[in-house]
Amino acid sequence: LAVVVLISGRGSNMEAILAASDAPDYPARVVGVVSNRPDAAGLATAQARGIPTRVVNHKDFPAGEAGRAPFDAALAEAVDSLAPDLVVLAGFMRILTPGFVSRYEGRLMNIHPSLLPSFPGLHTHRRALEEGVRVHGCTVHFVTAKLDHGPIILQAAVPVLDGDTEPTLSARVLAEEHRIYPRAVAWFAAGRLSVVDGRVQVAGSAS
Ligand code: GRF
Repeated sequence: LAVVVLISGRGSNMEAILAASDAPDYPARVVGVVSNRPDAAGLATAQARGIPTRVVNHKDFPAGEAGRAPFDAALAEAVDSLAPDLVVLAGFMRILTPGFVSRYEGRLMNIHPSLLPSFPGLHTHRRALEEGVRVHGCTVHFVTAKLDHGPIILQAAVPVLDGDTEPTLSARVLAEEHRIYPRAVAWFAAGRLSVVDGRVQVAGSAS
């Protein structure tokens, strides 16, 4: 199964998926990496592996709302040029228009660093610490037009420990992200995921 990964920065989730895909029996291959930032460190990682990369720089488009649709159209063109079966957002820091989402809905995934529906949006670890939650984590979900809200595929929980700071908590969550994202992609590639009444069903799991 052909996967295109969209990144904006370091690309550690992309790296985790790449590492998993090195296993001969992993059912997916990363066939391309697209970034909205030319300086995204993950681009070099992909290039070092001979994976095609594309940059659609949001700074080349009008700022604000006027630039959203034309940026997303150019992004879709770059993504389509790589012919993905699955599009994976991994640290991709743009809010996508409904037009882009509808083009890929059902084969468009994201990972969010909280236990959705808690803490949608940004600065999730800081907010978790501010709220004093005792359990935090990450969520892989299908992307819909509603931000950070689509059908949940996989989650992982981590404890919030006394003395935790944003760096210590985010590192604990990130380690779990790197564990569940490759698994979610593999489940999709194996055809095990379906969405019924807005909820994901995983075939072949203990029902
Ligand atoms: C991660 O915390 C991820 O949950 C969020 O972006 C952050 C950076 O991810 N979506 P990566 O290292 O660029 O994959």
